[in-house]
Order: sequence, then structure tokens, then C-alpha cells
Amino acid sequence: MVQSQTVSASRGLRGEITVPGDKSISHRSVMFGSLAKGVTRVSGFLQGEDNLSTVKAFRAMGVTIDQPGDGELVIHGLGVHSLQEPADVLDCGNSGTTIRLMSGLLAGQSFFSVLTGDQYLRKRPMGRIVAPLAGMGASIRGRQQGQYAPLAIDGQQLKATSYQSPVASAQVKSAVLLAGLYADGVTTVYEPHLSRDHSERMLRHFGVEVTSFDGGVSLAGGQELTARDLLVPGDISSAAFFMVAGLIVPDSELLIKNVGINPTRCGVIDILKKMNGSIELVNEREMAGEPVADLLVKSSDLKGIEIGGEDVPRAIDEFPVISVAAACAEGTTVIRDAKELRVKETDRIAAMADVLSTFGVTVTTAEDGMTVQGAERLQGGRVNSCGDHRIAMSSAIAALRADGDVVIEDTQCTATSFPNFWQLLGTVTV
Ligand code: S3P
Repeated sequence: MVQSQTVSASRGLRGEITVPGDKSISHRSVMFGSLAKGVTRVSGFLQGEDNLSTVKAFRAMGVTIDQPGDGELVIHGLGVHSLQEPADVLDCGNSGTTIRLMSGLLAGQSFFSVLTGDQYLRKRPMGRIVAPLAGMGASIRGRQQGQYAPLAIDGQQLKATSYQSPVASAQVKSAVLLAGLYADGVTTVYEPHLSRDHSERMLRHFGVEVTSFDGGVSLAGGQELTARDLLVPGDISSAAFFMVAGLIVPDSELLIKNVGINPTRCGVIDILKKMNGSIELVNEREMAGEPVADLLVKSSDLKGIEIGGEDVPRAIDEFPVISVAAACAEGTTVIRDAKELRVKETDRIAAMADVLSTFGVTVTTAEDGMTVQGAERLQGGRVNSCGDHRIAMSSAIAALRADGDVVIEDTQCTATSFPNFWQLLGTVTV
């Protein structure tokens, strides 16, 4: 049954919260922990549907993964060459990270595998990973000449590559690097702007030599991973909903604890600060190679700004909620260079333009972004998430400032990345 949620205006957000573990890091903890030799204990793991798809896939390839408690995994890795042929199709659900990173990993195995996903994932472009992997000697077939899942992968002996990615995508970069672990020689990936570097950091944490340089990253094939415990920080992409809520709802003061502030991910903080948002980083520290802080957010009079260039990949998943901040800002916000938003879980430019116009906000779209006119007031109404978790949650945040109730349809999808979102929102809103 399709679920919906009704959200009313808030008189302020107060208190301290922690958001669930980082989705990108949680995926990688399962993948790299499974390839490492020894026992990797993970805490702070995000038990969202996307990450559980990754856990299921590795179990299907013979890896023992225990879940002793909430947010805890114990992964019994047996080394880079220990995976076994899965007896059935691997279902990646809604998760782009699972299907793309695993394609790279599976391309160099000595067995056959098939990857698929839900109706949304099967519409997302896979040519961006199939092409560079084919250049390494991979044999991957998919619908429409390898553009779409299901993907059938016949593992091959791979050769190293030097790949210039046309997009700043951590999924593309990581897929090629994972294949590179199985290739002869040094694999290098160049990208137009630096995308999130969690793979590089975690591979180093597991003892792999990875060289990052201006414009790219490289690693030599044939390296082993050694098991090491991991602590996953809170997901800045989940924290972003509460940051924007705290900024746009008057009389708010919210402390969001234990948030990952990796420089390749914290574009949202920089963008919201440029919009005059009051966000203070306190208690900065490091957890398993990733920087972490608590974020103190206070209601602010936001101003419209122009956003583009290298800030875009650093905030790529936060644009739906950044557009909500823009709707509540004084003046105009222009978002450019963000064509990638068209190929996320849904077309997020079209989806947010629809949502914001229901709230009475004037939005114009371009192929690579949107222009949002800040509105004095938002109106209530009925919106649809298009099955996209971040559209559902961004709509909920806008609803906190609306004059009337907002009904958000198709909200089940929030379980992919933020299973306790609605409950947490209830605990901090007055
Ligand atoms: C992710 C990378 C990003 C991001 C996605 C998670 C990752 O995608 O949008 O939610 O974990 O590597 P792209 O690499 O396609 O930009």
C-alpha cells in the first residue's frame, strides 16, 4: 500500500539529535570489509533499505555478516579472491551505489553474476560504468546496449586503465577503482571536479595504497585489504534536512551531533552559510579517517545566491532541500551545472519544481538546474515524492513553513536512507 504523511507548520525546532549513519560509507564498509582478510566490526552502520541490499548481495556471495545489534555489523572477510558465484540474481533495490560499485567489483571475478534493481534503478544510466569497465576488458551486457540494468557480468581477467570520466561521480570513480584492484598494473581515474572520496579513504584505512592528486586518483592492482574496525559518522545528507528546517523555521535552535564533514561532502554547509545561514561547527574530531563535528543551527534570514561549479558535486544529494531553503530566502537563487540531478533516484529538477510550485513558489527550470524566487509565504497542498526519498523529506521540511497542512504521498521510500526520519522530525518540532 502506498503510504502518505501529513505535515503541519512548526513553531520552532529545538533540542539535540543524531542522524543515522552515512549511507555511502555504510555501503563501502560492507564491500571493503567483505574483501578484507579478517574480522571487520562496523558501528554506526545505516540500516536503511539501500545498505541492506548491499549486505544481502555479499551474503549471497558467501560472506558471513552478523548483525549483533542496532547499527552493528561483524563482517568475516576472507580476502580479495574469496567471493563465490551467487546462485541467483543480485537485487540492488533502489541503490545506485550498490549496482555501480558492485559492477566494478564483479567485472574482475572468476564467475558469472547478474545485477538488477527496482523500477527506478532500472531506468538509471549504467553506460557510465559499463563503458570504462569494458575498456578494462570487462564483459558486461545490459538492456539497450548496456545502458540499463539488469546487467549480466561474465568475470574476466582485467587490464589496468587510465580513465578520464566526463562526470564528477564517486560511483563511476569507485567502480573503476574496484575493478582496478583486480587488474594488472596501475589504474587511474581523472574527474572534472573531485567527487566524494570515501572509497579512497576507506581503502587506505584497510591498508591499500591509493594515490590522490589534483584531478584524479590511482591505485595498483593486486593489493590485499586487511580487516580494521570502522565507525560510521552520521550522514550529512540526512543532517541537511534538519539544517534547513532549523534555518527556515523561526525560533529554532538545534544541535545535530556526530555529522560527517568530509570536505567532498560538506558543500551544503558552505552553500547554506553563503545564504546567511547560522551553522556552527563544534567539537571537530576524526573517526576512522573521516572528519566529524556537531552542528549548531539557528533560525536565520536566508538570502538568495548563485550556486554552480565545484560546489555542485560536494552537495549533489542536497539540492532538493537546498531548493527548499531557496524558496524561503529573500531574493532569487540560481542553481547551475547540476545536470546530474536529472539522473538521480528521479529527475530531481523536475520533481522539486513540481513540489515547490504546489507550495506557491515560482520556479523556472533549465537542463542543468533551476531558478527559485524566494516566497514570503508557502501554501499547503498535496505533493508526491515520485518514489524518491529525498523529495519526500524535502517536502516535509518545506511543510514546516507552510500556511496550511501538506499531504506528502508515497513516503515509504524514506526507508532507503533515513528509516526514523518521521519519528525524529516529530521529536524536535514544537
Ligand atoms: C554516491 C555518490 C553520488 C551520490 C549517491 C551516493 C556514492 O552519486 O549521489 O547518493 O556513495 O558514491 P554519483 O557518484 O553518481 O554522483
